[in-house]
Amino acid sequence: MTTGKSVQERGEWSSKVGFILAAAGSAIGLGNIWRFPYTAGEHGGAAFLFLYLICIALLGLPIMIAELALGRYRHRNAVGAFEAIKPGSAWKLVGFLGVITGICIWSFYSVIAGYTVGFIGKTLIGNTLSYEAFASNPWISIPLTAFFIFLTVIVVQGGVRNGIERWAKILMPILFLLMVVLIIRSVTMKGAGAGLVFYLKPDLTKITGKTVLAALGQAFFSLSLGMGCMITYGSYLSKKDNLITSGCFVAFFDTLIAVMAGFLIFPALFAQGMEAQRHDPGLLFKVLPQIFSQIPGGNLVGASFFLLLAIAALTSTISLLEVVTAYLVDEKHWLRRRAVWITAAVTFLLALPSAMSQEGMVPALGQLPLINMSFLGLMNWTFGNITLAIGALLTSIFFGWIWKSSISHAELSEGCPWYRPIAPVLSFLLKFFCPLTILVVLIFFLYNTIK
Ligand code: PFF
Repeated sequence: MTTGKSVQERGEWSSKVGFILAAAGSAIGLGNIWRFPYTAGEHGGAAFLFLYLICIALLGLPIMIAELALGRYRHRNAVGAFEAIKPGSAWKLVGFLGVITGICIWSFYSVIAGYTVGFIGKTLIGNTLSYEAFASNPWISIPLTAFFIFLTVIVVQGGVRNGIERWAKILMPILFLLMVVLIIRSVTMKGAGAGLVFYLKPDLTKITGKTVLAALGQAFFSLSLGMGCMITYGSYLSKKDNLITSGCFVAFFDTLIAVMAGFLIFPALFAQGMEAQRHDPGLLFKVLPQIFSQIPGGNLVGASFFLLLAIAALTSTISLLEVVTAYLVDEKHWLRRRAVWITAAVTFLLALPSAMSQEGMVPALGQLPLINMSFLGLMNWTFGNITLAIGALLTSIFFGWIWKSSISHAELSEGCPWYRPIAPVLSFLLKFFCPLTILVVLIFFLYNTIK
């Protein structure tokens, strides 16, 4: 089944910078600023940071480049890209797993994005409602979740160029500058040093199989890999674009923001004596107000920060919905409008138990039997780590072993004049290193879980 659509009809990024910003917009979001700090906090701080950086360089970057190439090759979506290369095979199920994962991530992500929106107003007016009271109130968190899903729908309905690029271009640099200011305040708080030690001095004896899987999952989550998102975004690239430099730029900026988020949170966390809460999903929302309260004009600065964070989250949810939409429009020939609204309705229903699982709103959902996790925690662990790792594993196997290497190399070298010398390194990573490492980590985790 082919799409029959020309590149012009599907849309293309208006410029190379436009693509990099849009892909960086997908990558940079709550994953960096909300998820990274508390996951690092849960898994030993510096040891996690160390593993995370290794995963980005050796697994994330090659898989990012592979996904971009798969998408650009025939300008197809997450499912269609596999189908174009191996028609009629079961490989398209990898893309399909990505579509399902996209919906599931979008659901719990919107709950947290909704908190971010709520915190804009709360910070601006100096409302003193605690995070716990905020997140446990269904009349606050459910409408905010719905609002955020609605916002994403409105943008995605507009199509790639109007919607996605315009946002990313202006606002990402402002977020970056604001973070620099807040970091300066955080690291100069009295007692901040203990936070820096926690974040930067690794205790490698603390590393377990679960830590490695968490770091690997965080790398994929943060770079938007393992679910066809970069395949979809790559499908809007032209043959003139250099996939390798684009991938490197996106990975670099994404990692920079995550590392900065650690410098923002941990010093202030330890300075406030709140380190016991370092693995709490509410970490960001508990620590930041402490920083805002210690700077002049804190309310305004704080509200601006949450506004920009909400926008960063939006450029990520746009990409999550775009994966599903591109599939339904290209492969199932749905109208774009129908695709986005139906997906949004399903996602909202799926988001409800996540929203209700926080801070004791519905205790049964806050602590699921046997697994000792909240519903949101379960969704986050399953779709934010496990299925992304499985997707990335299968994508690297497909790229390294199934796609004819003469064609994949030709695709990568288009737009990249200096591809030849790095080809063997990339081949080795995608054929052997990535699949084997991810497989070992997954098997090790599975073994420890059922043991
Ligand atoms: N990378 C995004 C973040 O870090 O917030 C989340 C995400 C977006 C994950 C798109 C996966 C994806 F396909």
